[in-house]
Amino acid sequence: MPLNIIQTLATEGKDAVPYFDQIAVAVPVLGVVSLLKTYFGGSTNTWQRDMHGRVVIMTGGTSGVGAEIARELAQKGAQLILLVREHTTYAAEFVDDLRAASGNELVYMETCDLNDLHSVRKFATKWLDNQPPRRLDTVICCAATATPPSVERKYSRDGIEEMLQVNYLAHYHLLTLLEPALKVQPPDRDVRIVLTSCVAHVMADLDFSDLQFTRRKYPTYSPWRAFGASKLLLNMFGYEYQRRLAAYERPDKAPCNVRVVMADPGMMRSPSFKRFITCGSVLLLLLYLVFWPFWWLVLKTSKQGMQSILYGVFCGELPAPIEEAVYIQECDVRSHMARAEMNDKELQKEVFDKTKLMVEVIEKKSAIDRKKLEEKLKKEGKASNGSKTEYTPNSTASDEKITPIEEEDEESTTGSTTTTATGSATSRNDKKKRNRKRKT
Ligand SMILES: NC(=O)c1ccc[n+]([C@@H]2O[C@H](COP(=O)([O-])OP(=O)(O)OC[C@H]3O[C@@H](n4cnc5c(N)ncnc54)[C@H](OP(=O)(O)O)[C@@H]3O)[C@@H](O)[C@H]2O)c1
Repeated sequence: MPLNIIQTLATEGKDAVPYFDQIAVAVPVLGVVSLLKTYFGGSTNTWQRDMHGRVVIMTGGTSGVGAEIARELAQKGAQLILLVREHTTYAAEFVDDLRAASGNELVYMETCDLNDLHSVRKFATKWLDNQPPRRLDTVICCAATATPPSVERKYSRDGIEEMLQVNYLAHYHLLTLLEPALKVQPPDRDVRIVLTSCVAHVMADLDFSDLQFTRRKYPTYSPWRAFGASKLLLNMFGYEYQRRLAAYERPDKAPCNVRVVMADPGMMRSPSFKRFITCGSVLLLLLYLVFWPFWWLVLKTSKQGMQSILYGVFCGELPAPIEEAVYIQECDVRSHMARAEMNDKELQKEVFDKTKLMVEVIEKKSAIDRKKLEEKLKKEGKASNGSKTEYTPNSTASDEKITPIEEEDEESTTGSTTTTATGSATSRNDKKKRNRKRKT
């Protein structure tokens, strides 16, 4: 057909081609659109791996890019354990559909609410309690939350700023608790941890003495500063965690077989993106629909977004050395990172250690709150069935309730410094002065 048109054009001129003027406009426009669509669609993963018999734990596998990855892995035969915040009918139906569509019955869900560190601990403990230790090939951390602009700061069940907890602290907790299960895997097993990153980490407003934006004003109208900070912390954790895993001396003296990969899926038209951009407003939702052709053009689908994450799971040739975690973008390993924190090993180590202390403090505080609630319910003659509606420990909690990271650090470490995102260091003396000022 195009050849016929070209031939007619060459021999008889443009008047002989019906609708020539319209075709002359449409063809270049369609060409540009399809070029842009291909460009924004990103790269495609070409690595494949037989997942039969492999065990994968996954957070965030019920929605958006996570749901696509879960579908792909179920189809490839993986034994999939989806960590969900609650055993809801929706989650149960999601698992049923996944089983039916993939023909893979080895898809399960377990409760692990990232808003609640105790829930994370309960899942991890249950996993570790298995004797002999369970096979574990891959952990994919895909869950995240993004508070939309204009929405006030949200708190987790532990009374921590929600994005910090769900995106960073809970994954830190999950992975550090599961560490023995990772280390115990036989040496010939290629174990992967995949952390879902985001380009927003570049916009992080990170101050290690004020992770929850309590001293600083919470960025209600620019929440990407807080969201980016949670993702930057997750990436920093990834680098340090890899070094710690690599430093572990296995009883069989075999080299480390666990790789940590951070994967950036790129911008997608996922449910979280829609929630973020529309700020929960009907008007903005209508605007979103009006501009849908634009979003269609420049944003990936979840299927396209999952490619870099699949690359992280399947790729058979991750670069050496084993001590270095790998950052993947567009199915390619990135060596140059924009944020200095991504290359600062000392800072990453410091952040890892401080987070450990922070998690301990939060868990202790939440345990006390739970106990108090149980006693209160007992007094009132109601038995606690552990349901979430009954338990609201820190719904109004602020940093004063949960000891902030810098205060905890002050008590338990000596002579350390707190580095801000801009690289400035606040000395211990400065912090003491600040605290004295606060007291007076
Ligand atoms: N969308 C983008 O443009 C984009 C860009 C770069 C990076 N990413 C990253 O890609 C990942 C997936 O994003 P998405 O857009 O596909 O997100 P999404 O559709 O909103 O899915 C988020 C997932 O996280 C789960 N989750 C949230 N809070 C949880 C909690 N407290 N406990 C347990 N699970 C919880 C959700 O479970 P429920 O279904 O129960 O809510 C859901 O399965 C995230 O890490 C995100 O940061 C996204």
